[in-house]
Amino acid sequence: MRTPVIAGNWKMNKGPKEAAELIEELKPLVQDARATVVVCVPAVDFSAAREALAGSQIKLGAQNVHYMPSGAFTGELSAGMLKEAGVEYVIIGHSERRQYFGETDETVNLRVKAAVEAGLVPIICVGEKKEQREAGYTNALVTYQTLIALSGLTAQQVGQVIIAYEPVWAIGTGLTATDEQANETIGVIRQAVRAAYGQQAADQVRIQYGGSMNPKNVRGLMAQSEIDGGLIGGASLKAADFAQVVHFE
Ligand code: PGA
Repeated sequence: MRTPVIAGNWKMNKGPKEAAELIEELKPLVQDARATVVVCVPAVDFSAAREALAGSQIKLGAQNVHYMPSGAFTGELSAGMLKEAGVEYVIIGHSERRQYFGETDETVNLRVKAAVEAGLVPIICVGEKKEQREAGYTNALVTYQTLIALSGLTAQQVGQVIIAYEPVWAIGTGLTATDEQANETIGVIRQAVRAAYGQQAADQVRIQYGGSMNPKNVRGLMAQSEIDGGLIGGASLKAADFAQVVHFE
């Protein structure tokens, strides 16, 4: 009943020219996809990407958003600016932002609220580090991260967001959570949503898996009952690979 969503996270890769080329290559390959397809490109690519995406079903996404509407925040972009640039989705709280740029659960929450108020769909990233999984904290941690990130939203708004469960130890490493691990942890996240926002929000919210998802492992992951899609890094930079992930069925 939930439409799967496959989102590419290009990270700091590809300028406007290469972005347009990759999108042109991708367009015919994902034309008839059942999944919602999103490409989260670097901000300098918005204009070229939007032009290349014209007439396709692929949606434009960003990789971060500031929580203030405007002001003295050098280097930052507001939700209103993203919206005006044609962006519809935005990744918030990626583990690389948490690790390298001081992102906290509280600033993730501020960004989520700003995005939702501006009419953007946030892709909210949560996930544990290797040592946290080994210590048995995974369920408590993802529950906490999820509830803080969503704090202040209505149940109806929560039903419309996307959450990406990304175990930090699986990102860019070639290590993937097993199908069962990913399904179980995503089930824990959905249960946290259910307890706080009710059955309908839990039934509606789309929860992706992310972390070395690729054409080889996508089928097994997507066959799990709780997994509604993927946030794809490395494999989103090659049109053929990304298209295979999109057509996981
Ligand atoms: P990866 O990245 O697919 O390269 O592991 C996923 C992500 O960081 O969103």
